[in-house]
Amino acid sequence: MYLSGVRTVRFTIGSIDDLSPEAPAIAECATILHQGGLVAIPTETVYGLAANALNPAAVMRIFEAKGRPAWDPLIVHVSAFEMVPRVAAEFPALAQQLTGRFWPGPLTLLLPKSTQLPNTVTAGRATVAVRMPAHPVARALIAAADLPLAAPSANRFGRISPTTADHVLSELDGRIDAVLDAGPAEVGVESTVLDPLRTPPLLLRPGGVTREQIEAIVGRVELYSPPGPTPRPGALASPGLAARHYAPTARLVLVDGERDALLKAARDYVASEGERGNYVGIMAPDNWIDDTILAAGGIVLFAWGAWSDWAQIGRNLFAGLRYLDKPGVNVILCPLPSAEGMGLALRDRLMRAARTS
Ligand code: TXA
Ligand code: MG
Repeated sequence: MYLSGVRTVRFTIGSIDDLSPEAPAIAECATILHQGGLVAIPTETVYGLAANALNPAAVMRIFEAKGRPAWDPLIVHVSAFEMVPRVAAEFPALAQQLTGRFWPGPLTLLLPKSTQLPNTVTAGRATVAVRMPAHPVARALIAAADLPLAAPSANRFGRISPTTADHVLSELDGRIDAVLDAGPAEVGVESTVLDPLRTPPLLLRPGGVTREQIEAIVGRVELYSPPGPTPRPGALASPGLAARHYAPTARLVLVDGERDALLKAARDYVASEGERGNYVGIMAPDNWIDDTILAAGGIVLFAWGAWSDWAQIGRNLFAGLRYLDKPGVNVILCPLPSAEGMGLALRDRLMRAARTS
């Protein structure tokens, strides 16, 4: 039996050519999951912290390892459509229209929960959030274990989601049994969470599948606007969205507007922080920062990518926030994408990361 709190084993996928159930990394991780253990798994969005969704004790361990409050429900991951009835009591036509188009992929749907699924997974709710990840390693493991896997992002609660196995270990080493390392995540931002049981469907969390893509299939969707901090997050439509989240330790300052606005903010903050001996971190799109600003010193840059390449900007977002969040960096400056396409999800994550409560 694997012992949590002792040692976290890293299994590495050498080649995605061998993802058979007998491949050693897949077979070992499937065994751990069957024994009620915790395995951090690669998905196309971010790494998830997985346990057998049908084992309440295993699911409890996810909440303990992350320090996640029990009111915040988990997403259940499946590898095939045939697995959905093991966790959901119904799969309405509108939901099937969406999954027909976007599964496997970064779309999570709320469905009426099956009675077999432990209440710990859904935090006592009548619905379960279900998704079929696009990552071949995630699906190979779910299929090999033949278990639906409950998996939130594999970070400590409220912190930045992990896009590499190293990110996972930096926060959860010794608290989970294993991490299955398949390299950096492709999308870099979590899945879109949609409630298709409402009319119109309610977009709870923007993500890898865009609002425009969903509306092209099912017509208008409503955008959920989470309230500010609340004493009863468990009562909200999507409880996880109420709090400060994805947060670095340094103060994150968002700059709306384009290059000129960022350069002005950089000059101002370098002057004020420099007086106190602090550095200013900058999430810097390609070719935005010029030599005159760098010459002044006091800046740590993260090369974020081309500002119009939203796939690249999304992929690098969390790695950049982690990179800049280091001792001596007091403030991180970050330009805000506009709210179209992937930009909606990027803005959402940045605005929650910048909240102070
Ligand atoms: O891309 C992703 O979705 C990643 C990967 C690992 O799949 N997972 C992820 O899980 O981001 P997590 O737990 O960090 O975020 C899930 C969000 C939370 O905000 C939670 O409150 C919401 O989905 N959620 C889960 N089940 C729900 C339910 N039954 N009703 C409303 N909201 C739900
Ligand atoms: Mg999360």
